[in-house]
Amino acid sequence: MKLLEIQSSVRQEGSISRSLSNEFVQAWQTLHSETQHQKRDVGLNPPAHPTELWTKANYILPEERSSEMTNVLSESENLIEELLWADRLLLGVPMYNFSVPSTFKAYLDNVVRINRTFSFDPTTYCFQGLTTGKKALIITPSAGNFVVGTPLGSLNFCDTYLRSVLGFIGIEDVIVVPVPEQFMSNKIRQREIATARAKLMKLVTEW
Ligand SMILES: Cc1cc2nc3c(=O)[nH]c(=O)nc-3n(C[C@H](O)[C@H](O)[C@H](O)COP(=O)(O)O)c2cc1C
Repeated sequence: MKLLEIQSSVRQEGSISRSLSNEFVQAWQTLHSETQHQKRDVGLNPPAHPTELWTKANYILPEERSSEMTNVLSESENLIEELLWADRLLLGVPMYNFSVPSTFKAYLDNVVRINRTFSFDPTTYCFQGLTTGKKALIITPSAGNFVVGTPLGSLNFCDTYLRSVLGFIGIEDVIVVPVPEQFMSNKIRQREIATARAKLMKLVTEW
């Protein structure tokens, strides 16, 4: 089993997504001792945003790229290789302004690439995900309660966006574990953390 853990919270101290991910990884490794675990921290080290040169390089054949173009794509290539290597993805993605942190968006801009993680057939006008055979488990803390299916769930562009973009590249087996109400009273916060932890511990055997 190859487990890629990606953290995108800009916080280290008090980060719920990081602490629950740590607990999950420890329990997972205890049960699946053969697991190879790779960690990517885009919260602390965000990937570079695409640039004009990056975009030009992306849309031409590898053999036609200048050395400058090859260089500018090298971080993206490394991130894609790492993503393709994994068969399980554990993602710590807090809700920031109803969507994903910009650190994680920068990561996605680097890995959602034509002919690398998805393809497009201009004759049939069909897209196809190339990032297949993977499962994703996403831990999504938020200050308020924007869980899909609740009264303010229509404001949750984090859950829906992640499912859409991962599905687009071929990752359709996606589980989201929300951790809402983290700016509420300590009692409510702890209750939500305990609920998320129980779901995660169940997934250690069932995922
Ligand atoms: C820039 C920023 C934007 C945020 N936007 C939202 C939001 O739209 N809705 C919400 O419920 N919480 C929002 N929060 C709160 C975080 O989701 C919450 O603090 C969460 O616990 C952060 O994850 P972490 O504990 O892993 O760092 C925001 C936090 C930051 C830093």
